[in-house]
Amino acid sequence: MKTIIKKTTENDAFSMASDILRNGGLVAFPTETVYGLGGNALDPRASEKIYAAKGRPSDNPLIVHIADRADVAELASEIPPIAEKLMDRFWPGPMTIIFNKKDIVPKETTGGLDTVAIRMPSHPDAARLIRESGVYIAAPSANASGRPSPSTAQHVEEDLSGRIDMILDGGPVDIGIESSIIDVTGDVPVILRPGFITRKDFSELIGEVYIDPAIIKPDPTLRPKAPGMKYTHYAPKGSLTIIEDKASPAEVTENVISTINRLAAEAAAEGKKAAVLTTRDQADKYSSENIILLGEGASGEEVAKHLYSALRECDDIGAELIYSESFNRDELGGAIMNRLLKAAGQKLIYV
Ligand code: TXA
Ligand code: MG
Repeated sequence: MKTIIKKTTENDAFSMASDILRNGGLVAFPTETVYGLGGNALDPRASEKIYAAKGRPSDNPLIVHIADRADVAELASEIPPIAEKLMDRFWPGPMTIIFNKKDIVPKETTGGLDTVAIRMPSHPDAARLIRESGVYIAAPSANASGRPSPSTAQHVEEDLSGRIDMILDGGPVDIGIESSIIDVTGDVPVILRPGFITRKDFSELIGEVYIDPAIIKPDPTLRPKAPGMKYTHYAPKGSLTIIEDKASPAEVTENVISTINRLAAEAAAEGKKAAVLTTRDQADKYSSENIILLGEGASGEEVAKHLYSALRECDDIGAELIYSESFNRDELGGAIMNRLLKAAGQKLIYV
């Protein structure tokens, strides 16, 4: 299959993408978080195609994207008052809510579950595509399964060219990591995946919120409630290790820098290609030839935006051993460390 690539500014981009979606095909499109790989959420065959194109296990459910708040009532069998509050405050935006589903949503889309994940994205191109196509769009991140999520149309092309009908190129995304997922089907809301909207944001609005214990402390005996959280996502091909100062975890101390410099030099001495993940304001403290930037400074917004492209860059240069600074686990930092630790297969050295 030849994948059509069109910028969202081209005249016929949305009409072509809408036709493809209505005919059961697949279109990758930008959202404010990461690029999504879209298909008709109510068409079981479109969902099957999504799993096949990504090489994704079919027990890992898809998020259904809508453009109008009223659409929730078509898909969810009940809408708890807490969900109304969440939607009022955070939609459109980077929040996915888990509801009990109506029969209209096929099990192929929900990975066999009786619940459905729904998100109303704020990216204008995403909203326009959902409206113009008239289709609820099931969309996982538009990466090949196991690769970092795509923050540009080029990332999507690298992973899925020839496997999907079309890529809508709306430029780089804004946030860079996937939406926060919150489950409102139980007595107390539970965060199943940390994201741009943090636990503090949620609890300021709705009071007590749990975090799925399986995502705080990786433990093989705990089963994450978001099936996708159990897979080793986001992994670069090289082996990534995070270095953290036990005495001040939120800081890049001299200790961290000297350890990273030593490990990278040892790897290079053994003839291995080593890379260092850092931010521009720290970069001149490292002696490695391969410095890969996670943005200008260590603010959560900066690092989130560049995290996945930095992990892809590690693959592009063929890095075999990768050493990264650690980040503050507060707020957005928690979502970043969740992704970084997964990419590292939980390898963290305390110094
Ligand atoms: O920001 C995002 O959410 C992006 C953009 C494209 O919207 N999408 C995204 O989709 O990250 P994906 O498929 O890569 O991640 C969806 C996550 C998976 O971990 C999946 O297991 C979980 O959502 N999920 C989906 N439906 C669920 C359900 N009914 N119950 C629990 N977890 C669910
Ligand atoms: Mg994904």
